[in-house]
Order: sequence, then structure tokens, then C-alpha cells
Amino acid sequence: MCGIVGYIGGRNVSNVVMVGLERLEYRGYDSCGIATVNGGLKIRKTAGRLQQLKELLARDPINGKCGIGHTRWATHGKVTDENAHPFTDCTRTIALVHNGIVENYRELRERLIKAGHHFVSNTDTEVIVHLLESYYKRDLLSAIRKTTAELKGTYSLTIISGKEPDRLYAVKTGSPLVIGAGHDEFIVASDAPALIGIARKMLPLRDREIAVLSRDSVSVFDFNGKRVVRPFTRMELKQKAVSKGRYPHFMRKEIFEQPKVIEENIERRLKGNSILLDPEFLFYPDEVEEIERIVIQGCGTSYHAGLIGRYYFEKFCRIPVSVEISSELRTSEFVYNGHTFMLPISQSGETADTLAALREAANRGIKSLAVLNVRRSSIDREANSSVYIHAGPEIGVASTKTYTAQIFTLLALALAFARIRKTLPNGQHDEIVRNLQRLPGQMKEVLELDRKIKETASHLSFARDFLFLGRGVNYPSALEGALKLKEISYVHATGYPAGEMKHGPISLITGEVPVIGIAPHDSVYSKMVSNLAEAKARGGKIIAIGTQGDKELAELAESVLYIPEAPEYLSPLLVALPLQLLAYHMAVLHGCDVDKPRNLAKSVTVE
Ligand code: AGP
Repeated sequence: MCGIVGYIGGRNVSNVVMVGLERLEYRGYDSCGIATVNGGLKIRKTAGRLQQLKELLARDPINGKCGIGHTRWATHGKVTDENAHPFTDCTRTIALVHNGIVENYRELRERLIKAGHHFVSNTDTEVIVHLLESYYKRDLLSAIRKTTAELKGTYSLTIISGKEPDRLYAVKTGSPLVIGAGHDEFIVASDAPALIGIARKMLPLRDREIAVLSRDSVSVFDFNGKRVVRPFTRMELKQKAVSKGRYPHFMRKEIFEQPKVIEENIERRLKGNSILLDPEFLFYPDEVEEIERIVIQGCGTSYHAGLIGRYYFEKFCRIPVSVEISSELRTSEFVYNGHTFMLPISQSGETADTLAALREAANRGIKSLAVLNVRRSSIDREANSSVYIHAGPEIGVASTKTYTAQIFTLLALALAFARIRKTLPNGQHDEIVRNLQRLPGQMKEVLELDRKIKETASHLSFARDFLFLGRGVNYPSALEGALKLKEISYVHATGYPAGEMKHGPISLITGEVPVIGIAPHDSVYSKMVSNLAEAKARGGKIIAIGTQGDKELAELAESVLYIPEAPEYLSPLLVALPLQLLAYHMAVLHGCDVDKPRNLAKSVTVE
């Protein structure tokens, strides 16, 4: 989604804003721009990547100590130079960048055109700057308040004025915006990575708040003009966490970080044989005992992790669970009854559909416990309580380490609930804890398959269609493997429950369609092997993921990627790694932009 940066302070604003925008590239974008105040407004903007903007700035630099920048992910209006942000009013006094959607822009635009305003783009954003112009006499803050009173939809903004070179304004409604405080300087951005190197403390803005920033102060007001006082908190994010280090891509770095993330999660959550949840887990034991049904909801990879979560809550807690795709749930006639508990799962905590489904449930009095990576995100604030997956920042658009951290956290949560509800004998609990402790080492072992997976990918690079098959707890692994491949390598892939193949999709099988069969030693192993044999009998080229020492699979498949022997409930955490690496190598072979796949955004804040 769009990325916003604003800066006021002693440094060269162009440099600071460009670095900030680069750190927000992962959000996905198709055009970009920057505006500064330096003896009036200066603007450079272009369709395309930041490299093009850099070239523009090299040919025709703009400087100053106060400015704003933007990466645009098109919603209203094509990807053109004219539709790129920042936008200015008719007199080129105000410049503004926007993340979100103005729902009532058509009527506002008509009214403003009738009043004589001249529009240069097809975007919803441009109405905001003309509306501001219409209210701007001497005081931009009061113009902002009058403008926000008329806007419907979501809009996070940063605004500068040629008449106020020492002021930067920020407005938040919907999309995230966080202020970073440095030494006599402030930076404001859509996401914390853009603040690194400047901010020592940070303050996320809340919905319906306006911040007025100067070099040495920040004042926050609500939309009614009331002063808001909230302390800044220490900025914990470090440069190392958001740089690629020795890796060519963030995705590869994040794949290889997984054993460490799980190890740290184990250290954090297992104290002796007890499972610890975060202090933000606010439910009393009797509320957990009373749960009659869990509704898990999420999008994309988070939804897939939720499907594995269902297995845990059913197996260990004997609680009925349904897992819903957020965009479907929010508009469905879903029946919530009794003591239903909602678990929204989201890496970013900002996904618009997940947030909307959460709000829908809250309106019906349903309690919620969010499973999140990003603290103080919108879902974090709106859920009754949260647990965190502690994966650290994930920059690659494709979720990798946050997927396995979500699965781990759901397992920990299910075990904690099972303790409270007394559904798991002590002996079994202790055995699970022992198995968990072996997991990081096993994950490291699986990552050693990297070279073999690269070779496998090169043998498969001819294929334009793939089938990923799994059963039981690894049916979601098949869905996730297919999602990873298609999102970053643009190769079509379908994940399917292997037992359903004979009801239709088996007709797709030819030697041209590789079948990735997920068949570790588990309760559905022999059924899975039969399904793969059926595919092979029809000319299918089988690549299997199986348990070390499995000779049967070796006879059936062209190639087997072996994972260590592990209990069924842990196998999705091991299986995920070769699937991620396969997608990664395929994308590299196809020359794709691994970390920033086309049309995709890391956090999807529009419907
Ligand atoms: C997965 O690789 C994707 N990037 C995507 O499916 C993602 O999981 C989805 O958009 C949900 O995001 P969230 O976890 O931040 O809510």
C-alpha cells in the first residue's frame, strides 16, 4: 500500500525522505514523489520506481529542511506521472501526500470544479488538497480540521505549506502513521523502518488525530481540536533488523532466520514446563474454560496458519473451530453464538478485511484475541487482547518467518488453553515440550537442503503450472506452498487436498504439470502415498517432501526433499521451509523481483 514519509529538522530533507521511501518500498508501489519547502514548494514525481525519482533529483535537485514523500499503490486513476503524489492546490501553496481512499471524492470534486478549482489528475487524493485550499486563510490547522470534517473514507496524510516553511502536518484516519523524534528533528512515516537512523523515540498516531510538527516540538490534537497528550516510547527497531546483510534478498534472509525466531520464541514461551503468554493476554482462566467455539480469521498466509491452528485447538483443547477468510467473513451471514471466541491473525495488524471482520464480531459482542507481529497496530488496539509472534520486522512481501512464527504461537496458545481446560494429560504436555526443544535444530537441518532445492527448481523451471498436494495438517502447507510460488514467481500453482484430486483436478495431470506432494510420516501418510501413486499413474512428475529414510517415497517420486522425523503437529513448521525455498529459487530463476512482486503490497490496507 502507499508509503508516506515527512521530515522536519536540520538535515537535507530530500536525502532523508528518499531513504525513508526506500525503507517503505516493500509495501508495494507503482509511482513516487517528493515535495519540499524551500522558498516556496518544490516537487518532483514520476510513475515507476524510486530509481527513476532518484535520477530526476540528480538532474534537478530540490533541497530544504522540511518536506514530504510518497510511494503510490494505485487505486483511483492509472499509474501516470500526473497521478503520482504529492499533489498541490491551484496556487501551489499546499502540498500533500495520502494513503487511503476518499469515498466521497466524486461529489467533492464536482463541487470544487464548480467553485473554480482546476484538477490535473484522476485521483481521489486531489480533492483533499483543493478542499484545504478552499479553507486555508492563515491557519492550516483549522483548514485541516474543516477538511477532515467533510472527508469520508480512510486517509493518512502529510502536508506542507509554502507559507509555513517551519511546519509539517500529519493526519491519521485508517492507514498507520507513526512519528519518530530525533535530536531537534522529527520524521513521520507509514511504518517504523522509515524512522531508523533518525528517531530515538516513537509515537504512533491514532485514528482521527492531527499532529503539528516543528523542529523542536510536536502537538497532537483530535479532530475536535482537543489536545492529546501521550508519551513517546523508546524506538527499539535497529538498522540490522531492516537490512539484507549478506543476503541477496530479504526473503532469503527471512527464510534463514526461522530457526532463530522459533528458538527465541521457545525461550520466551517455555519456562520449565509452563507456557507463558504475553502480558497483553488479558483473559481470565474461567473465560478460557467457557469457550465453546473459536472462529479464526485472516487473509493469505495468515489464513493458512489459521488452518493449522484449527488442528491444534481441536486436537489439544477439543474446542470446535472454524477458519474463515476475512474478506468473506466480514460480509457473510455468519452465526456467532454462545461463548464464541474470535482469533484474528495478521502479521501487519493492518489488513483492512481482517480489521473489518473483527469489528463486525465486536459489534455482536464477540470476544477477540489477536495473533500479531506488529504491536500497536490497528488490530492490536481494537482486539480485546493480543499475543505476539515475535518474528521481528519482515520486509519481503512474501510471508516466511512470520508464517512459521504464527504456527508456533498458535500451538503455544492451544497448549496454554489445554492446560487451563485440562484436556491434555501432563505426560503428553511434557513430551510436546521436549519435541519443541528439538525443533530449531531440525529447522536448521532442513535449510541445508537449499542447494538441492535450487537444482530441483532448475529442473522444474520449464513448468507454467504446478499442483501442491497435502492432507490433514499439511493440507494448509500445500495451500501455502502454492501461494508462495505464484506470488513471487508468477507461475500458476494450485494447492489441493490430495484426497479431492479424483473428484476433478486429476484431469489436469500431465508430464508438464509438476506435482509437489507433501507426505511426511503422519496419520495420513499411506493415503497420501496412494494419492501420489494415482497422480504418477497419469504421467505426473512427482517431487515429494517426506521423512528421512522413506524408501517408498523415493521409488514413487523423481526427487524427495527429506525432513527429519518429527511428530505430526510439528511437521508444518519443517515442511514450510523447502516450500519457501522452492518458490524463492523459482522466482530468482525467472528473474522476478523476489522481495517486491508486482501488484502486491506487504500490508493490504484497502478492501
Ligand atoms: C503472503 O506471502 C502474503 N504476503 C499475504 O498473503 C499476507 O499473508 C496477507 O496479505 C495477510 O497479511 P497480514 O498477515 O499482514 O494480515
